[in-house]
Amino acid sequence: MALLFCIPCPLPNHPICVTLLLSIIWLLLGSTAATGSSSRRGHETDQLALFAIKAKITRDPFQATSLWNRSVNHCRWYGVVCGRRHQRVIALHLNSLQLAGYLSPHIGNMSFLRIISIHNNSFGGQIPQEIGRLSRLQIMHLENNSFTGEIPGNISNCLRLMHLGLGGNGLVGKLPSHFGISLLKLQGITLYSNNLTGKIPSSFGNFSMLKILNAKYNSFEGSIPNSFGHLKSLIHLQLGINNLSGIIPPSIYNLSSIVTFSLPVNRIRGGLPRNLGLTLPNLQVFNIHTNQFSGILPASLSNASNLLALFVARNKFTGDMPSLAGSPSLHELAVHVNHLGNGDDNDLNFLYSIANCSNLEYLSLSDNNFYGMLPKSIGNFSMNLRTIGLGRNQLFGSLPSEIGNLLILETLGLETNLLTGSIPPAISGLGNLRDLYLNSNNFSGEIPSSLGNLTLLDTLVLDSNSLQGSIPSSLGNCQQLSTLLLSENNLGGAIPKEVMNLSSLSIILALSQNHLIGSLPLEVGSLSNLGYPRHL
Ligand SMILES: *[C@@H]1O[C@H](CO)[C@@H](O)[C@H](O)[C@H]1NC(C)=O
Ligand SMILES: *[C@@H]1O[C@H](CO)[C@@H](O)[C@H](O)[C@H]1NC(C)=O
Ligand SMILES: *[C@@H]1O[C@H](CO)[C@@H](O)[C@H](O)[C@H]1NC(C)=O
Ligand SMILES: *[C@@H]1O[C@H](CO)[C@@H](O)[C@H](O)[C@H]1NC(C)=O
Ligand SMILES: *[C@@H]1O[C@H](CO)[C@@H](O)[C@H](O)[C@H]1NC(C)=O
Ligand SMILES: *[C@@H]1O[C@H](CO)[C@@H](O)[C@H](O)[C@H]1NC(C)=O
Ligand SMILES: *[C@@H]1O[C@H](CO)[C@@H](O)[C@H](O)[C@H]1NC(C)=O
Ligand SMILES: *[C@@H]1O[C@H](CO)[C@@H](O)[C@H](O)[C@H]1NC(C)=O
Ligand SMILES: *[C@@H]1O[C@H](CO)[C@@H](O)[C@H](O)[C@H]1NC(C)=O
Ligand SMILES: *[C@@H]1O[C@H](CO)[C@@H](O)[C@H](O)[C@H]1NC(C)=O
Ligand SMILES: *[C@@H]1O[C@H](CO)[C@@H](O)[C@H](O)[C@H]1NC(C)=O
Ligand SMILES: *[C@@H]1O[C@H](CO)[C@@H](O)[C@H](O)[C@H]1NC(C)=O
Repeated sequence: MALLFCIPCPLPNHPICVTLLLSIIWLLLGSTAATGSSSRRGHETDQLALFAIKAKITRDPFQATSLWNRSVNHCRWYGVVCGRRHQRVIALHLNSLQLAGYLSPHIGNMSFLRIISIHNNSFGGQIPQEIGRLSRLQIMHLENNSFTGEIPGNISNCLRLMHLGLGGNGLVGKLPSHFGISLLKLQGITLYSNNLTGKIPSSFGNFSMLKILNAKYNSFEGSIPNSFGHLKSLIHLQLGINNLSGIIPPSIYNLSSIVTFSLPVNRIRGGLPRNLGLTLPNLQVFNIHTNQFSGILPASLSNASNLLALFVARNKFTGDMPSLAGSPSLHELAVHVNHLGNGDDNDLNFLYSIANCSNLEYLSLSDNNFYGMLPKSIGNFSMNLRTIGLGRNQLFGSLPSEIGNLLILETLGLETNLLTGSIPPAISGLGNLRDLYLNSNNFSGEIPSSLGNLTLLDTLVLDSNSLQGSIPSSLGNCQQLSTLLLSENNLGGAIPKEVMNLSSLSIILALSQNHLIGSLPLEVGSLSNLGYPRHL
């Protein structure tokens, strides 16, 4: 370095040159010494800050920080990572240690910090605004603690921040809109499960590198900003369980990287674009249940070949159900409580395509206008089906005995339709069945004694049909049965003592309005099987 400086000297031995060389060497040494001492100072500042952090921790059951002490270089303390050359603290990892207390403002003195990861503890109080001094901060995981107060606006000074993790706390107030001007490197924001309010700032559309935005379980209101159409990197959008309204900006449906589109339980209205399944080719989760969407479900959904979950329940959708043959990975389909189906012979055509969804576990179509007969192909539906909900539609004809093929089915709901014929004895093939709702149809014939083979049965609801004969004593084998509704049928004879003796029958035993002999408690239950989507 010093030699290089001397090369331009016309006369290397000239005194000026020697002086220059010496002064350059002195400068270099001096500056090194200066760096050394500032680094030592920084080292001490870091240690002071760590002691201050330790001092604010009131509970440390795994002794993560309680053993921090001067006999060991703090760079070797539990959870502390230092840079190799400058020995300054660059990361603090104290996750899932059941730590409680406050996060000391001294954390803002650890100026080389790149990572603060203290999620899944019980830190409380305010998030120190001194974090805004950490200009090198890239990753901040404060999720699942008990932080309160507002999000400190000073975090906007952390210009290199890539992950801002604040979910699962008790934060209140509005989102600082100036984050959208400065934190342009953000790739992930979690705000879920707080008490945040106000609008989602339009400036958040500036986060062109944002991949994850999870703000579910808050009280955000207003509409999703139009600027969100600029979030070209967005993969997971989760805004469920808020108070959002308005329509979805159409440009969002052009963000082809989206995998999770999840906005359930808001007040969002409007229709879905016809080419949805083509413009969002990577879609896996489409969840808009419990909103005010209307119009038809786009046929292009069948082009979303990676779709795992389609939750559009509790909206105002009308028209035909699209084919889902092109979504063979589908696990969960929930369209209940809409106005789907036209009351004509084509209503159930889509059911044939469901046989192609061989991973389907959850099928909830109840509370619509579906009209038609259940196809025998129901027996070819996914062997992974656990729930079928078809209640409150306009199904007629008989229940195909092929239903007995769905070996692991747990819930079958066909209540409040126009079904006739007898209950197929083959239903006893459903050895995992917990809940069977066949009430409010026109089933006739006897209750098959093979129902007694369903030993896991918890709820058996057969009321309001035209069932005859006597109550099979085999039901006494259903030792888990807690709800039995048989009222409003034409059942006769005595109530078998095996049934009367079922100790599990605690919820409702309704047998009224039959021709049974003996006296009984008359209770009328109104049970319904409203399937409900599980994921948000
Ligand atoms: C100091 O820290 C070391 C290493 O963490 C630990 O083994 C030792 O017990 C500590 N001493 C005190 C007095 O806490
Ligand atoms: C949270 O911490 C507890 C124990 O401290 C641990 O059992 C649990 O797995 C952690 N959860 C997550 C999501 O990290
Ligand atoms: C560290 O930060 C605290 C609080 O922010 C401040 O009071 C203190 O002077 C700082 N200490 C050092 C050594 O820089
Ligand atoms: C926070 O807790 C939720 C629910 O227990 C869990 O799913 C999530 O992974 C946790 N996040 C972190 C960063 O610990
Ligand atoms: C945080 O920001 C406010 C306003 O910008 C400023 O007054 C305050 O000094 C900052 N606090 C810290 C600790 O940097
Ligand atoms: C949000 O506020 C409500 C009412 O003030 C409170 O019951 C709830 O526990 C709060 N939720 C969180 C995550 O702090
Ligand atoms: C950020 O967004 C706001 C509002 O959407 C806009 O006015 C501003 O120009 C944007 N700033 C940058 C740096 O992109
Ligand atoms: C949702 O927002 C509306 C106004 O837009 C307000 O009247 C209503 O109380 C809010 N609901 C909740 C649960 O915050
Ligand atoms: C979506 O992209 C298509 C094709 O690039 C374009 O024609 C259309 O105008 C875009 N729609 C919106 C709302 O941005
Ligand atoms: C979309 O799916 C339909 C029906 O399965 C098919 O006819 C059409 O070719 C697909 N379009 C594209 C672009 O893949
Ligand atoms: C549905 O599956 C059958 C049999 O595996 C196959 O022949 C048919 O092409 C599939 N339909 C679609 C639309 O993918
Ligand atoms: C099913 O029940 C019928 C009638 O109660 C009985 O004859 C038959 O053996 C049972 N089958 C099985 C597999 O338990």
